[in-house]
Amino acid sequence: GLPSFVKIVEVGPRDGLQNEKEKVATDVKIELINKLSLAGIPCIEVTSFVSPKWVPQMADHTEVLKGIQRHPNIIYSALTPNLKGFTSALEAGANEVAIFGAASESFSKKNINCSIAESLERFESVMSAAKSSNIPVRGYVSCVLGCPYEGTISAEKVAQVAKSLYDMGCYEVSLGDTIGVGTPGAMKHMISEVIKVVPVDKLAVHCHDTYGQALANILAALQMGISVVDSSVAGLGGCPYAKGASGNVSSEDVVYMLHGLNIKTGIDIQKLIEAGRYISSKLERNTQSKVAQATCTK
Ligand code: HMG
Ligand code: MG
Repeated sequence: GLPSFVKIVEVGPRDGLQNEKEKVATDVKIELINKLSLAGIPCIEVTSFVSPKWVPQMADHTEVLKGIQRHPNIIYSALTPNLKGFTSALEAGANEVAIFGAASESFSKKNINCSIAESLERFESVMSAAKSSNIPVRGYVSCVLGCPYEGTISAEKVAQVAKSLYDMGCYEVSLGDTIGVGTPGAMKHMISEVIKVVPVDKLAVHCHDTYGQALANILAALQMGISVVDSSVAGLGGCPYAKGASGNVSSEDVVYMLHGLNIKTGIDIQKLIEAGRYISSKLERNTQSKVAQATCTK
C-alpha cells in the first residue's frame, strides 16, 4: 500500500532559483524560505555552495543561510560538490548537505566537470569532513530516467551510483529525473533495480515536470514504497546544465495529491500556496502549480 506519511523536501530556493537568469534579490530568497518554514515544510534546500562562476545565482549562499529565520524542527540544507563548498556551508550554518552525482558520464562532466568515478572520490572528502562534524549527507543521482546528452540511461547504472553514495554514508539518496522524461513504467523499473542494492526507506524521488509526467511518476514511486519526495514551490526551476529541463514538480500539487490520498505531510497547503504566490509575483511570472492556479482568487 501507500505510505501514511511522506516527507517533502522543498528544493525551490535552490533547484528552482538556480536557473533564473536575472539575479533574484537575496532578501526575496530569504523571505521565500521564511514563508516555506511557516508552511511547515520539514526540509528546505536553501542554496548551493558551488562555484559562482558556474552558477552565479547561488553566489549569495552564505547571506541567505545566515539571513533566514530558523525553526528548530526544520532542516536547512545546501548542495556541496566538494570540500571547499562543504567548509563554507558548515560555516554558514547548514544543518545538512548534499553531494550530487549522476548516472550519466556526459552529464557529470557538464555539471560538475569530472567523471562519475572522480566525483565519487571527491565526495569521499566531503563525507569524511561531514562525519567529523556530525552533519548528515544526502546524495543525488541525476539523469535516472534519461540524460540530455546520452539519452537512455540503464537502471543498472543508476543502481550502481546510488549504491556507491549509500555505501559512502549518505543517509538518503534522491533519484533525479533531471529532464522529466520518465514515465511511470520506467520509474517502477528503475526503482526495482535500485532497491536491490539500497533499502527503499533510504530513497527519495526528485521529478522534473518537463513532459507532464511528474505526479504520475511520484505516485508510481509511492506504490513502490518510497516516502520522500522532492518538489519545488510554484514549480520553479530547471537545471543550467540540462537545457530544456522545466521546473521540478510543484510542491502545492504534490501536497494536494498526498492529502487527497490521506497521506500526511505536516504541511499547511494554504500557507504553501501563499509562499508560491509570493515568489511568482516577485519573479513576475505565473505559477506552474495547477493547484495554485485553480485556487487563484483573481
Ligand atoms: P571546476 O572548475 O572543475 O573546479 O568546477 P576547480 O576546483 O578547478 O575550481 C574552479 C574555481 O571555482 C576556483 O576559483 C575555485 O576556487 C572555485 P578560481 O581559482 O578560478 O577563482 N570553486 C568554488 N567556489 C565556491 N564554492 C565551491 C567551489 N569549488 C570550486 N564549492 C565545480 C567544479 C564542482 C566547483 C563546478 O563544476 C560547480 O560549481 N558545479 C556546480 C554546478 C551546479 O550547481 N549544478 C546545478 C546543481 S545539480 C542539479 O541541479 C541536479 C539536481 O537538482 C538533481 C536532478 O535534478 O537531477 C541536484
Ligand atoms: Mg533537479
